Amino acid sequence: MNMHKGPPIIGQLIAEHEVVERVVGSLHRWAVEGQEADPDARAVYIDFFRVWAKGFHHQQEETILFPALAEHVEISLDHGPLKILTDEHEREVELVAQLESADQGEPTLAVALELAHLLWMHIDKENSVVLPEAGERLIRAGVGSLEGSTEGPDEVAVREAVEPLVIRWTPLEDDDLYRGDGCMACSAYGNTCGGIEKEWWNAWEWEQHLSYEE
Ligand SMILES: [Fe+2]
Ligand SMILES: [Fe+2]
Repeated sequence: MNMHKGPPIIGQLIAEHEVVERVVGSLHRWAVEGQEADPDARAVYIDFFRVWAKGFHHQQEETILFPALAEHVEISLDHGPLKILTDEHEREVELVAQLESADQGEPTLAVALELAHLLWMHIDKENSVVLPEAGERLIRAGVGSLEGSTEGPDEVAVREAVEPLVIRWTPLEDDDLYRGDGCMACSAYGNTCGGIEKEWWNAWEWEQHLSYEE
């Protein structure tokens, strides 16, 4: 059952974020406690981030959801939330490459932590603002049946391969990182993004909002 307002792809992407969150937390634990004991884990995490997080999950956002928003709701791909999210997907690719070549010990921990911070905050942006807003807009635009992709065999294989690691290296959060919902918690707010109201709201939405305030 789709618990989220919006077409099925919205609930699917939110459910997939739980998988990514667990693996990212596990990578963090491994980087802190497990590098020497379990050196082979590095390649398993890397395969997951490349094939599943990037090749499956981010791919659906970039090739299904974002184009649908651009086409049916006239939301720009060139600035604001969708541009920021796409840039963060690219940054993920760079950090995964760095994780592959980083020396064991502190250098690996530093990259793992940067990747974890990036993906945690990325997921917060999507879960708390972009996906709920996108879901409502797609329904209003009559695109209520938009679906995500189904995992292929390679994607199933990397997800299943990483599961024992998530059990062995249980997800570890980072108390030093502030995480929160909404635009105010977003690193891009007031910087490269004016916030969802400025970036996405149309004249009708502004009128509704202002008439409530009067
Ligand atoms: Fe994303
Ligand atoms: Fe996502």
